[in-house]
Amino acid sequence: MKEIINVDLKARTIGADVVGWKTDMLVVGCFSDQKRADDLVRELDRRVGGAIDRLRLLGDFEGKDESSAIVYGNRKTGAGRILLVGLGEKKKATLDTVRKAAAIAAKKAVKLKAGNVGLALHRALGGQFDLEAVGRAIAEGAYFGSYRYDEYVTGGENGRLKSLKVTVIDPDSVKIKRLGKGVADGVVLGGAQSYARTLANRPGNVISPAALAMEAKKLARGLKNVTCTVFDERQLKAKGMGGILAVGSGSKNAPRFIVLKYNGGPKAAGKPTVALVGKAITFDSGGLSIKPASDMDQMKLDKSGGIAVLATIRAIAELKLPLNVYAIMPSAENMPGGSSYRPGDIVTTYSGKTVEVLNTDAEGRMILCDGLAWAVKQKCDIIIDIATLTGACMVALGNYKAGLFGNDDKLIEQLQKASDDSGEKVWHMPSGDEYAKEMKSKIADLRNIGGKWGGACTAAAFLRQFVGDTAWAHLDIAGMDILTKPTESAGEGSTGFGVRLLTTYLINMAERPTKR
Ligand code: BES
Ligand code: MN
Ligand code: ZN
Repeated sequence: MKEIINVDLKARTIGADVVGWKTDMLVVGCFSDQKRADDLVRELDRRVGGAIDRLRLLGDFEGKDESSAIVYGNRKTGAGRILLVGLGEKKKATLDTVRKAAAIAAKKAVKLKAGNVGLALHRALGGQFDLEAVGRAIAEGAYFGSYRYDEYVTGGENGRLKSLKVTVIDPDSVKIKRLGKGVADGVVLGGAQSYARTLANRPGNVISPAALAMEAKKLARGLKNVTCTVFDERQLKAKGMGGILAVGSGSKNAPRFIVLKYNGGPKAAGKPTVALVGKAITFDSGGLSIKPASDMDQMKLDKSGGIAVLATIRAIAELKLPLNVYAIMPSAENMPGGSSYRPGDIVTTYSGKTVEVLNTDAEGRMILCDGLAWAVKQKCDIIIDIATLTGACMVALGNYKAGLFGNDDKLIEQLQKASDDSGEKVWHMPSGDEYAKEMKSKIADLRNIGGKWGGACTAAAFLRQFVGDTAWAHLDIAGMDILTKPTESAGEGSTGFGVRLLTTYLINMAERPTKR
């Protein structure tokens, strides 16, 4: 099996002659609405005999976002290639603009097998953003863009880079210090997100609930202050986790309840304990309410929520955040078979609430409700769940934003802030009483599907009933977990969505002085 491309990222102070710095590819940013290029681009243009100016004049490169152009170096430049990345309009630029530009550059570098890249993207920005935040965004972007999933592609790919070396460069050591601080954090976030993408991309025959549990144990062994507990089928029965057992009953690959606990040490005292609950369906065939054949393969990614919380634990443990955090991953494979749970079944969940199953394909909520109830039992102060839960959420929001639901305005606001900081977009949606009404059953406490409309909201309203008074938020990431086509800045497959969002939320919380 091939190793995923390694990324080696640093910030470095260099001599005054940036254009003369030796590299396979020097990356600079350009805004579309700035007539006068910045000093660095002008100096570059001089050394390449006005080639950059000509690109602009001919209209081949206008600095629009997601565009890029290559100019080849010469004896007067240290770089073999100069990559110009469009940043769009200056007034519209956000940290995500920088993150995306770094991703585009890293993706190009991998494609061109440019193993050494010098990044000077920050130069175009002026004083617009805090340099530490810029460094972090650049590092996250470099990881994101260079990622490609090719573990199982044997041979073939001539000279594919084993490692990409990216150096953020500037002659000003004060700037590099700030940038470097951000880069160090970004390396942790980017590395965790790539880890999540690899695990999520592995198919159902490789990652079963038991295999996922082994991965979680392996991760915990390698991290200080993280412990891992796994409940197997026997323990699930003993505890009465009827939701997970029902969903897993049709598969030969038995379900697991996986818990990671990160202990933030003495400094975590006085901070709220956070539970992250992630849906980890290793494959969702729909069960007896089976899905259509087209695109069913994509349901190997139905474990993405669970993997997002696993990778978040990795990130916060590496960052040594002063917080106590649980990652809870109810995991099962949803399959049709002689022992599957059926439409019409009544299931007693871990909370004691009974659920009438009307569609076995609404399995995510059946496993999450046990995870949520377990988090409540541990007396967690805040619960956030994340799941590829409903096609209805994709109908509502497309592939651009995840649905954000919850019962606590402050928590919603904090997640919206984390979304802005991390570039992983969310949109607040309702999950109140009207929706809960639809989830009432005549013969049990709840039913597992609502009416025809508002499926993302009724699903959220179902989950809401398992958290009691605990502050709770729910992220429906259906459609955000996967790219079906590659883009300028990302390869296809798992996106690792949620790792940056959740980690950023926790970083922000760790930095706040108050309890909540
Ligand atoms: N995992 C799916 C949701 C999903 C669909 C994620 C498409 C990503 C892409 C979930 O388990 C599911 O099947 N949901 C059903 C619920 C319905 C039966 C109420 C759905 O959305 O159709
Ligand atoms: Mn389903
Ligand atoms: Zn599912």
